[in-house]
Amino acid sequence: MIAKDKKPMLEIKILDKKFILPNQVNNGGPYFLTHSVGPLTKLGQQYLDDYYLSPWSNNGGEAWPQWLTLIDQFTSALSQLLGGAQDEYCPQANLSTGLAKYLMALPKAGFRNTVLMHAHAFPSMGFVVKALESQGYQLGLIPTDKPAHDPQVWVDHMNETTAAILITHVHSNTGVLSPIGEIAQLAKSQDVRIMVDVAQSAGIIPFHIPNWNVDAVFGSCVKWLCGGPGAGWMWVCRDSLSDLAPKDVGWFSHENPFEFDIENFRFAETAKKFWGGTPSIAPYAAALGGVKTVASIGVETIRAHNLKLMEIISPEHDFTHNGGTLCYKAGSQIDAIEARLRSKHARFDRRGDRIRLSLHITNTEDQAQMLRDSIYQH
Ligand SMILES: Cc1ncc(COP(=O)(O)O)c(C=O)c1O
Repeated sequence: MIAKDKKPMLEIKILDKKFILPNQVNNGGPYFLTHSVGPLTKLGQQYLDDYYLSPWSNNGGEAWPQWLTLIDQFTSALSQLLGGAQDEYCPQANLSTGLAKYLMALPKAGFRNTVLMHAHAFPSMGFVVKALESQGYQLGLIPTDKPAHDPQVWVDHMNETTAAILITHVHSNTGVLSPIGEIAQLAKSQDVRIMVDVAQSAGIIPFHIPNWNVDAVFGSCVKWLCGGPGAGWMWVCRDSLSDLAPKDVGWFSHENPFEFDIENFRFAETAKKFWGGTPSIAPYAAALGGVKTVASIGVETIRAHNLKLMEIISPEHDFTHNGGTLCYKAGSQIDAIEARLRSKHARFDRRGDRIRLSLHITNTEDQAQMLRDSIYQH
C-alpha cells in the first residue's frame, strides 16, 4: 500500500509531470475511462516527436535505423515490465490480429479443433475464431452463468476436441480477474495450447508472464499502459516458436528482412516471424512513453492505489477477483446514477446495466468519494 504521508507528493508529481489528463486540457471533469483509452503520457508525447517525427523530418527514408531501434526499445521495455525475453515479443496492430496469426500458425486443426473461451471474452476474439472455421476451427464458449475465474469451470468445459483455450485476464464488461497460473496448470494436464488476453490487465495487475507457463499472450498498450491505440503486441513462448508457421507474413518476418531475395524466405528465429510487412512506427513511440511511465511508477504502486480508491467507493465489496475497473451493476438505478455522475462532469461509460469506472494513479481519493456519493446518493 502507499504510505499515507507519501501520497500527496506522489500524486502531485504524477499529475503534474507524467500525464496529460483530458480534463487538464479542456476542463472536462474527472477521467475514469482507462478501460477504453488510458491517459496520454508526457513522455509519450515527447517520444512521438523525438523518435518518430524528428528522425523522419531530419533523415527521411534514412530514418529506418532509428525507427527500428525504437521498436527494439519498445519490446525491451515490455520484457522488463511483464517478463519474458525481448525476442519473444512481436509488435502487432491489435490483439485480434495477433490471435488470428497465432491460430493460423499452428499445425492444421484436425479432430482437436475447438478454441475455448468464456462468453464474456471480448467479442473480437470470438469473431477471429469464427472466421477461422474455414481453417477447421470451432468456437467453444463457457456460458456466462459460470464464473470465469474458477479454474475448475475451465476444466469442466474442456474435452477431447479442445485444441486451445483463450483466458481473458480481466474481462472488460464485468471486471472479473482470473488466476491465469492456476487455470493454466490445470489446463496443461489436458495438453491444450494456452493463450491469454491481457488487454485490460497489463499495467494495472502485477504479473510476470514466464510464471504462468502459457503458450501465447496477446496485449495492447491502449488502456492501463497509457500508450494509445495501434501499439499491440504478442508474446510467444520461445520453446514453441520453431513449430509455428505463420501464414500472414512479410519481409519483416524474414530472418534477414534486408536480404531481398524473392526466392529465399526464411522465418525469423524469434517471435518477429509473426511481424509481417512494413511495420508501423508512430504508435510505438507514444506507447514506449506509456510503458516507461507505468514502469517508473510501478505496477504494484498503481494497483495498490487503484484498490484503495475502489475500496473507498465500495468498502463492503471484495475486490480479490476484480481488475482495475469497477463495473458497478446499477440495475434499474442506472439512469439516475448516470445523471448524477454526468452532473459532476465525470467521464465514464456503461455496458448493459453496468457503469464502468476505471481508477488509475491519476485519480484521487476525493474523486473516489464523489463516485461513492453519486452511486449511493449520500
Ligand atoms: C479484454 C479485451 N480484449 C481485447 C480487446 C481489444 O481487442 P483488439 O486489440 O483486437 O481491438 C479489448 C478492448 O477493449 C478488451 O477489453
